[in-house]
Amino acid sequence: MTDKNPEAALDTDNVPELLAILPLFDATLFPKMVLPLVVMQEESVQLVDEAMAKDRIIGLLVSKKPEKVSTQSKKDLASVGTSALILKMAKSADNKTQLLVQGIGRFRVKEFVGGKPFLQGRIEKLTDVDHAGTQIEALMSNLVGQFLRIVDLSPGLPQEIGQMAQSISDPGTLADMIASTINIANEDKQRILEILDVKARLEQVTKLINHQVEVLELGNKIQTQVKGDMDKRQREYYLRQQLKAIKEELGETDEGTVEVDEYREKIEEKDLPEEARKEADRELNRMAKMHPSSAEYTVVSTYLDWITSLPWHDSTEDTLDIKKARKILDEDHYGLEKPKRRIIEYLAVRKLKPDSKGPILCFAGPPGTGKTSLGYSIARALGREFVRISLGGVRDEAEIRGHRRTYVGAMPGRIIQGIRRAESNNPVFMLDEIDKVGSDFRGDPSSALLEVLDPEQNNSFQDHYLDVPFDLSRVMFITTANILDTIPPALRDRMEVLQLLGYTMDEKLKISQKYLIPRQRNENGLKSSQISFTKGAIKAVISGYTREAGLRNLEREIATICRGVASQVAEGKVTSFSVTIDDIYKFLGPVRFTSETKSRIQTPGVATGLAWTPTGGELLFIEATAMNGKKGLSLTGQLGDVMKESAMAALSFIRANAKKLGIKENFYDELDIHIHVPAGAIPKDGPSAGGRCCPLAASRKRCWLPTVPASRKSSCRKPTRRIWRIFRKR
Ligand SMILES: Nc1ncnc2c1ncn2[C@@H]1O[C@H](COP(=O)(O)OP(=O)(O)OP(=O)(O)O)[C@@H](O)[C@H]1O
Ligand SMILES: [Mg+2]
Repeated sequence: MTDKNPEAALDTDNVPELLAILPLFDATLFPKMVLPLVVMQEESVQLVDEAMAKDRIIGLLVSKKPEKVSTQSKKDLASVGTSALILKMAKSADNKTQLLVQGIGRFRVKEFVGGKPFLQGRIEKLTDVDHAGTQIEALMSNLVGQFLRIVDLSPGLPQEIGQMAQSISDPGTLADMIASTINIANEDKQRILEILDVKARLEQVTKLINHQVEVLELGNKIQTQVKGDMDKRQREYYLRQQLKAIKEELGETDEGTVEVDEYREKIEEKDLPEEARKEADRELNRMAKMHPSSAEYTVVSTYLDWITSLPWHDSTEDTLDIKKARKILDEDHYGLEKPKRRIIEYLAVRKLKPDSKGPILCFAGPPGTGKTSLGYSIARALGREFVRISLGGVRDEAEIRGHRRTYVGAMPGRIIQGIRRAESNNPVFMLDEIDKVGSDFRGDPSSALLEVLDPEQNNSFQDHYLDVPFDLSRVMFITTANILDTIPPALRDRMEVLQLLGYTMDEKLKISQKYLIPRQRNENGLKSSQISFTKGAIKAVISGYTREAGLRNLEREIATICRGVASQVAEGKVTSFSVTIDDIYKFLGPVRFTSETKSRIQTPGVATGLAWTPTGGELLFIEATAMNGKKGLSLTGQLGDVMKESAMAALSFIRANAKKLGIKENFYDELDIHIHVPAGAIPKDGPSAGGRCCPLAASRKRCWLPTVPASRKSSCRKPTRRIWRIFRKR
């Protein structure tokens, strides 16, 4: 080790014009800074030895190539470097030389000189271009401030280095010192070394230090966060372990904890919406404190089961292929053009605007006209799940919205149950028989339905049991009803009503051929070659054995015939059977419905009326007779008030106009009149049963029999005359 008055040698004047050049890899030395080096290459060791023997001053140039190159390859060396004084040197056994060097000043190599095994260069000493003034001061103080921040943020840097920076008054040295301390790339350091203008150097270092501060601050923030998370988790884990130990000590079983952990995992996996997550966590924490055999424990676990099994974010993808959807709809149902067109329109709109809200459709019509089955078909066409709940006879609001959890045996309402069954949050949801929803002291279910069926509100449907909102806005609701009158107006207003009217004879024939017969044939195990129906036979079944707007009875009758044929085929009596009109009697027995119209209106005193029932249109026969007696009017046949009033008004009119009508004026003093409307025990009344039977008849003030529309002018007048004839005779 050598030590020969180094301080004096630190003057740039001592630096010779011809310098031995030592290449530097992965390091940069700035003037006045100290750097430890290890020298291994033979020629470099020789260089150091020679320098030590002379003035101990060497030149350091940064090599642009990262790997060690021969000291002779000058083209890889930077042209600006630092002259340095070897402060200390030590040799180790494997011929490695360790150096401690201190920078003296900047220089530029003018030319390299040969003659030695190591590089030598003729150099030009470079001096800083100094500036003074407030700008430099400001730059310096900013730089020092940022540097202190770096010292704070980097645990590896001693605090003293900050104080040292504060004490440096020379701007160039300050920039050099900071550049050599902060963690920047070697190329950046070299660039700073090459900047002689002090102001420019300060600015460049400021730029680099700002970036460095940002990186460190961000890193620090991440570090604190991660640490916080870890601490929380570690703390939780530690506490849980303690809890476990305490429970074990108390002799309590661990099965509850296992279950709680399972629920915790499920909640984690499920990615619940925020409110649901909070509620679930709250219940879970409650559960963790309970004994597994307590009643409340089961209640909480059922709740958690519900909340973790609902499809909060799961939805099926819609089939937006319109042609395919049309095909599926036609496959399942004949006709029903209007509802089918509506569904296709919906699909088209969804294709153009995927987030469009679905309509709330209401299929209204007589029984058996395909309302429910069309719902299934729509779900199939859209590629969605299908859920159906029947609202017939539902009187309790809780059936829709669920019970509060405080009740024993509380459950979510049918809507949430349906959604869980569907396992997707966008099923086709059919609310069947919505017209048969009742209401009593237990609440009004239709009011709860108002929320479900309102597209503006149902994105946060609140079930009493769940107690957190569930988004129903993606569900396609379809309701069905036989009659619209019983649906509360507010509810009806929310729905787009599509009427499915009854089928005509022709339509029934086509549906039988295309759908009902093939279906029943399959269900009864027959092949198409084994059974066939003639058109006449089908028509005979339709008119003689069924009287309905829909198709249920017809399908049942066809099933009966198919069973009959199946038993004959099974017995081996026939191999194939063509059902004709003559065979119908064999399978279905005597004809059940004959047209009584002709026979009834031929009888004097009988008039026809038309009636509307949920099952379609009906002919109504009104029978009147007069007998000796005294001012008696009997009305029979389950008549409502409106019909009774009509009959009385008719009598008053006849009495008032007896003379004009050619009837004895005091006919009523000697007569009892009996009006009867048969048609079984069906109650008959309604707005259309009023005294003015039809606009035409009413204007003529002639017809007083109920419910005869204008289109039936002739039949409306005829029976009326007949009744008068009876009166006249008397
Ligand atoms: N247009 C049609 N094409 C083919 N089959 C039909 C058609 N209309 C109804 N059907 C058949 O009639 C039967 C009864 O239909 P569905 O159960 O859908 O009646 P509904 O309208 O829901 O009656 P309700 O009002 O009594 O509930 C089903 O088997 C269905 O397939
Ligand atoms: Mg139905």
